[in-house]
Amino acid sequence: MSDTIVSPAQSAEPGEAKAPDSARRALPLSVKPADKANSRKIFIKTYGCQMNVYDSLRMADVMAPEGYSEVGTPEEADMVILNTCHIREKAAEKVYSELGRLRVLKDEKKTRGEDMMIGVAGCVAQAEGAEMRRREPTVDFVVGPQNYHRMPAMIDKMRETGQRIVDTEFPIEDKFETLPAPQKRLTLARGPAAFLTVQEGCDKFCTFCVVPYTRGGEYSRPVARILDEARALVDAGVREVTLLGQNVNAYHGEAAGGGSATLGALVAELAQINGLDRIRYITSHPRDMDDELIEAHAHIAKLMPYLHLPVQSGSDRILEAMNRQHTAERYHEIIARIRKARPDFAMSSDFIVGFPGESDADFEDTLALIETVGFAQAYSFKYSPRPGTPAATHDEQVHEAVKAERLQRLQTLVSGQQLAFNQSCTGRVLPVLFDRRGRDRHQLVGRSPYLQSVHINEAPDSLFGTIANVHIEGGFQNSLKGRLVADEIATA
Ligand code: 5AD
Ligand code: SF4
Repeated sequence: MSDTIVSPAQSAEPGEAKAPDSARRALPLSVKPADKANSRKIFIKTYGCQMNVYDSLRMADVMAPEGYSEVGTPEEADMVILNTCHIREKAAEKVYSELGRLRVLKDEKKTRGEDMMIGVAGCVAQAEGAEMRRREPTVDFVVGPQNYHRMPAMIDKMRETGQRIVDTEFPIEDKFETLPAPQKRLTLARGPAAFLTVQEGCDKFCTFCVVPYTRGGEYSRPVARILDEARALVDAGVREVTLLGQNVNAYHGEAAGGGSATLGALVAELAQINGLDRIRYITSHPRDMDDELIEAHAHIAKLMPYLHLPVQSGSDRILEAMNRQHTAERYHEIIARIRKARPDFAMSSDFIVGFPGESDADFEDTLALIETVGFAQAYSFKYSPRPGTPAATHDEQVHEAVKAERLQRLQTLVSGQQLAFNQSCTGRVLPVLFDRRGRDRHQLVGRSPYLQSVHINEAPDSLFGTIANVHIEGGFQNSLKGRLVADEIATA
């Protein structure tokens, strides 16, 4: 029994290609060779960011022509894929505990004569490669985020040869060129708001972050390909797309007429598509908020007035140590310009507390920045040292208790701002795209332009997938409630 390992030089370690004997065991070779007409069942569990959500959906698109349909639990599945995140330590640990549970399930199935294949995808797969299978021998294949389009071929090869596969190289061929178009049937089932990856990877190398190592350098898809995918989504009932990229506003894809297009130019092209009513993008970097993008917010009504713009810290000293390549003042300038372009703009951000060397005064600077900006919502994290990143070996690590106390103070401040923002919407009429049922069957839930969840009662089913005006009657910590203004469907 042997393993096939395809991994990039940067993550290959001496001896990685050889798993210990204890890690070598037979594949479920009693599985019949792929009969594509046969219905197989796949369960994909997603960890981490929207990019992973998109990748998981595309994995389902890739596997559908192979006869795989998605199921909601690992118990029902004959293939389980964990699409993993490596951004913080706990995320990777969660994957290993899930693999432990899956090992038990796989053994139980085996005693019943059933097979289950286990694959690990995403950034933990990329970072750990063969080490992953050494630590958890139950894993049948490991596939990096740039390689999942090769899964059908990999799985066929595993069935033919009995080899288990680790594929974490950065391939020369373009994953996006090889992926099938989004499956109309699956897109319809996923609802009217869709993700569309336009850019991947990052060249910024913030000193705390693993992304440049796990996702590789910046790559932008050509405009024409993105327009094709957006049209296919609209054709399947999608009304809103969120353009995804680790550094989405660094987008510089090939323009239709040659040269390269900025994100602002791409948005202008997408806005021409009839039936596509809303455009969002995530995640941006302050350094790449260029004039064209800010102008787009002033002139393109389909571009939603909401921006997730991570700042991480309000202290210039810490921003410098993080290699963020901007100051707090520059961040304020950007926001002032955006709010000038569109006064009702809602802001979101990411913050890290307890970065190595962060003093009380640095942390106070972060709180001051939050007070000045006023956020509609934000994500905040305790600094988590990631192996291989420069900050991980910094000798001024902040004590865990200090991180916890700072995180709590920051989250209390942001929660207050979020509640105040939601309450300030009371009395307004907002266009809402209804994209899901509430917990109560009579409730329909949608998104406001500012990405708030809006709940309405006694909603007709026909509203699902449409945009309608809602009179907001109450704002809470995480949602709004309201009632329909009129039966007519508004175009936001
Ligand atoms: N520790 C804590 N938070 C981190 N993030 C990225 N790397 C780390 C880390 N090592 C946060 C940043 C980033 C978000 C996606 O995750 O705030 O914007
Ligand atoms: Fe990570 Fe910084 Fe790149 Fe964002 S900009 S993905 S935080 S390295």
